[in-house]
Amino acid sequence: MSTESIAIKTSGPLQGTVHLVGAKNAVLVIMASLILTKGKNKLTNVPFSEDVFHMIRLLESLGAVIEQDKEQRTLFIDTTKILSAQIGADIMKKMRASILVMGPLLARFGTADIAMPGGCVLGTRPINFHLNAFSKMGATYNQHDDSLTAEAKELRAVDHVLEYPSVGATENIMMASVLMQGKTRIVNAAIEPEVLDLIQALNKMGAQITVEPPASIVIKGVSLLKPIEHHILHDRLEAGTLLLAAAITGGEINLPDAPVHSMEVFLAKLEEMGHEITCGEDGQGVHLKATKNPQAISFKTMPYPGFPTDLQAPMMAALCLASGKSVIHETVFENRLLHVRELQKMGAQRAIDGQPATIVGVDELYGASVIATDIRAGAALVIAGLVAQGDTSMTGVHHLKRGYDDLIPKLASLGGNIKLVDE
Ligand code: EPU
Repeated sequence: MSTESIAIKTSGPLQGTVHLVGAKNAVLVIMASLILTKGKNKLTNVPFSEDVFHMIRLLESLGAVIEQDKEQRTLFIDTTKILSAQIGADIMKKMRASILVMGPLLARFGTADIAMPGGCVLGTRPINFHLNAFSKMGATYNQHDDSLTAEAKELRAVDHVLEYPSVGATENIMMASVLMQGKTRIVNAAIEPEVLDLIQALNKMGAQITVEPPASIVIKGVSLLKPIEHHILHDRLEAGTLLLAAAITGGEINLPDAPVHSMEVFLAKLEEMGHEITCGEDGQGVHLKATKNPQAISFKTMPYPGFPTDLQAPMMAALCLASGKSVIHETVFENRLLHVRELQKMGAQRAIDGQPATIVGVDELYGASVIATDIRAGAALVIAGLVAQGDTSMTGVHHLKRGYDDLIPKLASLGGNIKLVDE
């Protein structure tokens, strides 16, 4: 049992410049996609968060040889000796993103033997879109208790029409389709920046993938993919979290690497609250100067380019101290409001239970003992703790660590009174 907690004391306005790491949700899937190659790959701008270590263990369990250079934020992944297509339940259950190796395993070996990833705190999180797509391509399944074996002697190129633009299903279909004859189309595909980074990485390997407006992806099959070097795109979600930390404390922050064009709806909402946002002219870099009198706003989480579900919880923390009533509708996940209860322990006022969440701004939050239930809930509570009067102690730290690399030192470098406590 982990005894780690994060201790946060009331902090003044955060001030300073921070460099971003690579996006967790891009690096995980790109690591999985390397199964499609045979040879030495190099990834740079890697965030060394717990989920990345988990994906390292998963790939190693399949036979990959991996070297880490944390200082240079680099991973060397040699996929030559990947010989197994079987993933143990112990590895599979630790991270839902493990499902992302299914497409590449089917493409390389014609089989994938996995444990069902199961539900998680964000809701049931089914994988029916993934499984339906593979079966349309010719895969058959054998399920015993918790394990699932997929077999496909030869995958077929077909058109997939997704009823919802699922990020993981889009990625898995692409990875299953690159190494076969024929043309695959994914209609109503997810076009998140992390999906586009995967497309870039696959195209470097030799794949032929194009995005057609408004949201279709076309894959022309090729017969061989070669190892790559790839620089992971900067993390828009780390950027959003840091901007909100500066905003809630009335501070000023400069993020020279922030990918402006992937954050536009979120940045517009910060402006609507009254914060001053200045963006780099070349689409890179965001500077925020916080207003002293933030206003309530309303938003719905949506697939990209809408307001990202992954910034809903941290934005809610900031809205707890805004003037007026904010209405937040979480539409992507069925159960992504568990942080509300924890924010209430700190004095947040929720006017209406259930969906949408209605938050009435208060003058002050108070320090409390709170529990992070998922990555972004952890970020929300940390941000709230920076302005709360008195001490906050947050457990469930492993959730935060799954998705952020160095968030605590970064907040401390900006003047946050925050530290990791391991007793
Ligand atoms: N869904 C289904 N069936 C499926 C797949 C998805 O019903 O087969 C539903 C989900 O239950 C959910 C919705 O579709 O309600 C969207 O899920 P999606 O598949 O788009 O999400 P994901 O691929 O499981 C990724 C990120 C999440 C991020 C979402 C949405 C990774 C590793 N994870 O998850 O990241 O919230 O896309 O953008 O890329 C996080 O970083 O904190 C995180 C949870």
